[in-house]
Amino acid sequence: MKKLKLIGLSLFCLFTFSSIKQVQSKDYQYYWLKVSAHDKFQRSVIANTGVAIEIVKDDYVIAYGNDLQKEALEKLGWLEAASNLAFEKDFPTKDSAYHNYAELTDAITKLANENPDIVKMTSIAKTNEGRDIWALQITADHAHASDKPAAIFMGGHHAREHLSVEMPLLWAQYLVTQFRGGNPRVIGLLNSRDVHIIPVVNPDGMEYDIKDGSYKMWRKNRSRNANGTYGVDLNRNYGYQWGTGGSSSDGNNETYMGPKAFSEIESTAIKNYVDTHTNITILLSFHSFSKLILYPWGHKYAGIETANDKLVHEKMATTMAEWNGYQPQQSSELYIASGDTTDWSYGVHKIISFTFELDPANNGFGGGGFYPGPGVIDPVFQKNLEPLLYLLDYSDNPYRVLNVGIGPIKP
Ligand code: ARG
Ligand code: ZN
Repeated sequence: MKKLKLIGLSLFCLFTFSSIKQVQSKDYQYYWLKVSAHDKFQRSVIANTGVAIEIVKDDYVIAYGNDLQKEALEKLGWLEAASNLAFEKDFPTKDSAYHNYAELTDAITKLANENPDIVKMTSIAKTNEGRDIWALQITADHAHASDKPAAIFMGGHHAREHLSVEMPLLWAQYLVTQFRGGNPRVIGLLNSRDVHIIPVVNPDGMEYDIKDGSYKMWRKNRSRNANGTYGVDLNRNYGYQWGTGGSSSDGNNETYMGPKAFSEIESTAIKNYVDTHTNITILLSFHSFSKLILYPWGHKYAGIETANDKLVHEKMATTMAEWNGYQPQQSSELYIASGDTTDWSYGVHKIISFTFELDPANNGFGGGGFYPGPGVIDPVFQKNLEPLLYLLDYSDNPYRVLNVGIGPIKP
């Protein structure tokens, strides 16, 4: 765990380096943008320019985007400030506690090798650049795993959200060490549940973000797009109501939806995995940042139509919020976005589905909210541990949280 050496370069400096030409196909500059917006409708207009909205406040948002989007927002008259000197103040000098792809692979290989009775590690796909997307299956009874209720946890859809990769890794390690150490709660869970953990969905993007020893603020995967640009936003590429708002059809943009639903190896790998593990009743996708617990729908303002399903999401989100202190809400309360993981997993499979936007709440204007340093890893895991155990516990029948015996109960 030595790499990820971060040098305190400002974005301004970055863009004067010739290597930056490889970052974008055109010589776009990228900015943190403070944009006036007072409700979800205005925020959806902003999302439709193709920026990635990262922070939502009552009367403004902080978004990340290029100069064309900056211009569009200026034309709307909503742009309050822009900064391309984002990292100068608090860019960490050393983030060695975060795992790069090789270190992550080593850590989970070790976990699987040392605990073959409870951990199975498989590659669910190979990316464009030849990396395996790893899945861990953890249960005390692999022979009968598919008869047990299952929950799936994943991270690293977005390249720069490195903390979202540490959470599933720590979760896997926690389950194994506690099981070995005799923790009765964990023993009970692994005896009766089937746990699926995919720590990094987008390894190509993650490696690209860190490959020169300084962060690139990359979000998407590394697909070569038809117009010569790079990257599809994997959290806009899932095939439920794909392309119906809050995603972009322009490969230059941060929220490029891809040429068609499930055009990407990574999102297709998750689709196939979830499609075939029909015992999954609960899904959690880690992202960063903003301290939010989000649930469907994201592609429309209306809430989930099935009353019990809506109630289960609300009840679980508010319960988990008591532990981690995050804000629970329907994701389109932020802004409309279509093609995300949870709209698909709930929309198609009726899996109870959440997105956690991890710490921090803020990046300051232009600070490093994606790069909060190594000190947050453990505390953020600790505050999210009870929500993780809770989700796993209720995967036998999430409708139990309603204390009523109704609602679809999956095998
Ligand atoms: N911030 C995440 C993203 O941009 C989550 C989006 C959640 N969905 C939504 N409709 N706001 O992918
Ligand atoms: Zn994200």
